[in-house]
Amino acid sequence: MTAFVLGATGFVGREVVRQLCVRGGKPVAHVRPDSSKLGDWRTKFGELGATVDVTPWDVTAMAATLRDRAVTQLYICIGTTRSKAKSDQVSGNIYEQIDLGLTKIAVDAAKTSTKPRLVYLSSIGADSTARSAYLKARGQAEDLVRASGVPWVIARPSLIVGDRDENRMGERVGAGIGDSLLAVAGVLGGKNLRARYRSTSADVLASALIRIAEAPEHDCIVDGANLR
Ligand SMILES: NC(=O)c1ccc[n+]([C@@H]2O[C@H](COP(=O)([O-])OP(=O)(O)OC[C@H]3O[C@@H](n4cnc5c(N)ncnc54)[C@H](OP(=O)(O)O)[C@@H]3O)[C@@H](O)[C@H]2O)c1
Repeated sequence: MTAFVLGATGFVGREVVRQLCVRGGKPVAHVRPDSSKLGDWRTKFGELGATVDVTPWDVTAMAATLRDRAVTQLYICIGTTRSKAKSDQVSGNIYEQIDLGLTKIAVDAAKTSTKPRLVYLSSIGADSTARSAYLKARGQAEDLVRASGVPWVIARPSLIVGDRDENRMGERVGAGIGDSLLAVAGVLGGKNLRARYRSTSADVLASALIRIAEAPEHDCIVDGANLR
């Protein structure tokens, strides 16, 4: 099996790469070709035993790479934030352009190459009819994955917390308050609610992504307790 990780430099993607390496795999970590930290990532991923790939975000180029590397599992762990979009000089509907736009490139490349299993990191609440631009783009991206015609699994975690490179105070505070309320709900009998919405960490989530990538079952959405 050859795993190719899009978004390998992200909080979750890098953990997927690390865990695949620890298990003796030889994953390919995709880094955007214009990354200002490309040299650092080559060193970090090289030390782990992963191969770095810098194919541009283009369907034809990405399909050729998936074919050349005989990719069987394509992890899609990409997405932007307001601050990242600002530094990337992306404006307008940033989630439509990045979260949805890059997923479309990945899905189209998969369809026209080795037809790898898609492992799509989405979000709880993803819904193509949502009012929130973020959840709407996530829902539309899920629709593309589901309609791809290749095997797929979609993970819908709640907030992902831990020591990030950047300070995401809002997420940390939100997760703290949310988890406290959910703990109370759990005691009062809302165990399913708690399992579905409580925050998770990158290592727990990465391990679950690898598990669902390798499980015989596919074409399914996984959330809550099944992502732990
Ligand atoms: N954070 C949460 O609590 C949470 C909860 C549920 C779901 N999710 C979803 O899970 C996804 C991954 O989470 P994460 O915490 O690992 O995100 P992250 O650390 O922000 O990583 C995002 C990845 O996307 C890449 N990326 C962003 N903008 C790009 C662009 N314009 N061109 C190419 N690559 C780009 C980044 O590459 P660079 O490093 O090169 O910028 C990075 O590899 C998120 O996008 C989010 O939608 C997150």
